[in-house]
Amino acid sequence: MAAFSLFKLSLLLGLLSNLGIWPETHVGIVPPTCSRIECPSYDVIYAGDDYEIRRYNESVWMSTSSIEDISLVGATRNGFLQLFNYIQGKNMYEEKIEMTAPVISQVSPSDGPVCASSFVVSFYVPKKNQANPPPAEGLHVHKWGTTYTAVRKFSGFVMDSSVGEETAALYDSISGTLWETAVDKSHAGETATTYTVAQYNSPFEFENRVNEIWLTFTMEDEFTS
Ligand SMILES: *[C@@H]1O[C@H](CO)[C@@H](O)[C@H](O)[C@H]1NC(C)=O
Repeated sequence: MAAFSLFKLSLLLGLLSNLGIWPETHVGIVPPTCSRIECPSYDVIYAGDDYEIRRYNESVWMSTSSIEDISLVGATRNGFLQLFNYIQGKNMYEEKIEMTAPVISQVSPSDGPVCASSFVVSFYVPKKNQANPPPAEGLHVHKWGTTYTAVRKFSGFVMDSSVGEETAALYDSISGTLWETAVDKSHAGETATTYTVAQYNSPFEFENRVNEIWLTFTMEDEFTS
C-alpha cells in the first residue's frame, strides 16, 4: 500500500517536473542571507501550512568527518571552524572560497538515551568551485543527486533544547502524508531517523536569524526521461 502510494507520488513529481508546471507560488520566503551570498537553489514543490517540500537539483557539499558529541551546538561549532579554515585557504590549493549558506548539520541520533549522537557538518560549495573543490585533510566532498526535503523554519539561535521540538513538530506536520512515507522509506534501516539542521546566519548576526529542520528523501523511481 505504502509502496504503491509512493510510486504514485514519484510519478506525479516526475510528470510535474517534465511538464515544467511546478507551482509558481513560492510560499516560503527564501532566507534573506541568500540575497547576499550564494545558496543552493531549489524549487518549492509543495507548500503546507507550516512546512514546505523542496527539490534541490544536484549539489556539492564539503563535509567534516563524523563528530561524536552530546551537543548539536558544540558539534556544529567544531565543524564550522574546520569549514571556516577551509574557505580561508587552509586547503591543498591554498585557495580562498566564498562563504555560502546554509551550513548544515546532519544529525544521526543515538539510539540510547545518554549516548552521544553523531554529526556531520557541511558547507555548500559555490557553483564556481563545484567541478574541482580543493581537497583538505579531514574534509570530504559529498555530491548530492536530486534531493527532496521537508522543511520547517524557525528563528533565533539554534539551541540543543529547541532542535528536538522543532524536529518533532515537522514530523507532526507531515504525519499521514505521502511525504512522511517518502521520508520513512529513504531512512529505512536507520535506528533513529537522521535529520538536518540548516543555519543561514553567522554567530555575529543577532536579528532575523533563519534556521530550518530538514527531513530529506530521494525519489529513486522518479521518471527522468
Ligand atoms: C532543476 O532541474 C529542473 C529540471 O532540469 C529544472 O526545470 C529546474 O529549473 C531546476 N531548478 C533549479 C532551482 O535550478
